[in-house]
Amino acid sequence: MHPDASDPDGYIPLIAQDALVPGRVHAFVVRHWPIIVVRTADQVHALLNRCSHAAAPLDDARVRRDFLICPLHGAQFDLATGSCRSAGSGYLPIRTFPVRVTDGMIAVRVPDTQPTVDDLPLRP
Ligand code: FES
Repeated sequence: MHPDASDPDGYIPLIAQDALVPGRVHAFVVRHWPIIVVRTADQVHALLNRCSHAAAPLDDARVRRDFLICPLHGAQFDLATGSCRSAGSGYLPIRTFPVRVTDGMIAVRVPDTQPTVDDLPLRP
């Protein structure tokens, strides 16, 4: 299957689950969408590679159990929902994308539309 081909539900095969180091951030670009994929002990999550606070890329975010820590200012975001769990921050959630794991292969679903500038991280 072509790496950019999707199944009838729109999921795009990405990488074998075993190829992801648990607790580490792995960055991809899927149909122009910058995403990060994180494998935890029992789940796989996909989020936009852009912090909702100041648009920092999250490639170098640290992962702790079920949340990640933005490398720029340290806000914490839930991996499953993207919501910010740093008390009083008021930061918006980070966008999440549906993930499916079939026969050990991770597939993600991104929008059919192209990302806008508001979906892209600001690189220094
Ligand atoms: S840019 Fe992520 S917490 Fe500020």
